[in-house]
Amino acid sequence: MIANVLCIGAGYVGGPTMAVIAKHCPDVRVTVADINAERIRAWQSGTPPIYEPGLADVVRVGLGKNLRFTADVDAAIADADVIFVSVNTPTKMFGQGAGRAADLQYWEKTARSILQHARGTTIVVEKSTLPVRTAEAMDRIFKNGGDGKRFEVLSNPEFLAEGTAIADLESPDRVLIGGAETPSGQAAIGELVAIYAHWVPRDRILTTNVWSAELSKLAANAFLAQRVSSINSVSAICERTGADVLEVARAIGTDRRIGAQFLRAGIGFGGSCFQKDILNLVYLCDHYGLAEVARYWEAVVTMNQYQKERFVQRMIRAMFNTLTGKRIAVFGFAFKADTGDTRESPAIQVCRELVAEHAEVCVTDPRALESARHDLGDVAGHVIFEPDPYAAARGAHAIALVTDWTEYQSLDYVRILSGMQRPAFLFDGRNLLDPDQLHQIGFNVYPIGRPDRTNL
Ligand code: NAD
Ligand code: UGA
Repeated sequence: MIANVLCIGAGYVGGPTMAVIAKHCPDVRVTVADINAERIRAWQSGTPPIYEPGLADVVRVGLGKNLRFTADVDAAIADADVIFVSVNTPTKMFGQGAGRAADLQYWEKTARSILQHARGTTIVVEKSTLPVRTAEAMDRIFKNGGDGKRFEVLSNPEFLAEGTAIADLESPDRVLIGGAETPSGQAAIGELVAIYAHWVPRDRILTTNVWSAELSKLAANAFLAQRVSSINSVSAICERTGADVLEVARAIGTDRRIGAQFLRAGIGFGGSCFQKDILNLVYLCDHYGLAEVARYWEAVVTMNQYQKERFVQRMIRAMFNTLTGKRIAVFGFAFKADTGDTRESPAIQVCRELVAEHAEVCVTDPRALESARHDLGDVAGHVIFEPDPYAAARGAHAIALVTDWTEYQSLDYVRILSGMQRPAFLFDGRNLLDPDQLHQIGFNVYPIGRPDRTNL
């Protein structure tokens, strides 16, 4: 019976996942530890350091009962029966594999701390997304344990999406647990299954070998991102031919073999994981001599890059081939709605390109303005940060809608238009707004993958 669960890494995955485990397993003591003391203080206060709908309520259920947050990682390790490792695994930016391989320095550091401070038998669970066969490397590090310490490494990748994390955790499509095909490996799988079985139907808990679990995570993200790149490639053809990408997506998505999800054409996918995980897959394929497979997946990222560039090119073309001195209001900076996360947000590239065109950029976002300030620090002299979308659009030649915040649907666009330069342009990078209505009130509208609505 597991009594003490620890998660190392109190980020977008560690915090929400452990809060949900604590909620459903009142007899288990759940600790979340992180080297970032400021983050830990925010979690302890009951106001999480990340914005995620519904998260604060779930955290408050456990705080003061069976959920606690601590910056003393080593002491927490010593008390744990199960340790989830949910530290960041960004793309490596130096040395071999730079720009593609996963940077495993945080992960390995954590493994060494576990080796040093754990006592007795400990189940170590890979929660972070890792290259296939990382568990094997972990095993090798742990084999040097001595002192009667024993470790069992499981892979339990996380599939939550930001903005819907709590719903995803409460009702997952599946929970995936990979472990060794040895009696002790199977016993460890059983212990972890028992935790999830508190609220997840047993038939949604899949168990596999470790390598399948590790690879399934990379493959799932690659498939999802591939769908986005596929529909974005179609959006480019739509813009040339007069087809409408919403109609095409509906037509192909009603085929049950294809399905309707993840067919929203847009400005390109962002977020901390899609690009990183595909590049990691590409690196693995090259490593194993599978050059053709590597090039296949690499194309998903190439298409994504092209989509972001295409958006700005269309703006330049529509606005008489010059943006110099023109004010552009960028609506949204987060990589998607309902999160303050801006990691790999398409907005970063769009804003940089607009600045390079000597446009005067004004960014607005309901949750991500502080991060935007940080991400655009090096071009900050050329960018204004404005929480109020009405003020952001005042005096602007164009609006570039980059994030699909629903609040942008209910703005008063007549009022916005009245303060803008004429002709007024609106580039909808998410197909969030009604282009006909906006055109009717006087905007020249350019939705992604759909015909322009313009009088020019
Ligand atoms: P994050 O950057 O939000 O959080 C990681 C945390 O780990 C940070 O707070 C950092 O301070 C901490 N950390 C780093 N090294 C540490 C150490 N040695 N000891 C203690 N703490 C340490 O990252 P995230 O978004 O939560 O992602 C974590 C992992 O989960 C990644 O591998 C990611 O690919 C994967 N993942 C993320 C998501 C998502 O939606 N963000 C979804 C599924 C999987
Ligand atoms: C994604 C996956 O959906 C999760 O299952 C996975 O756990 C997670 O990555 C991870 O490993 O980090 P996330 O990046 O949080 O989750 O958000 P998504 O909803 O997948 O959106 C990713 C990007 O694709 C966003 O920029 C979004 O705007 C874009 N997108 C998504 C589209 O442009 N069109 C779509 O139809 C769907």
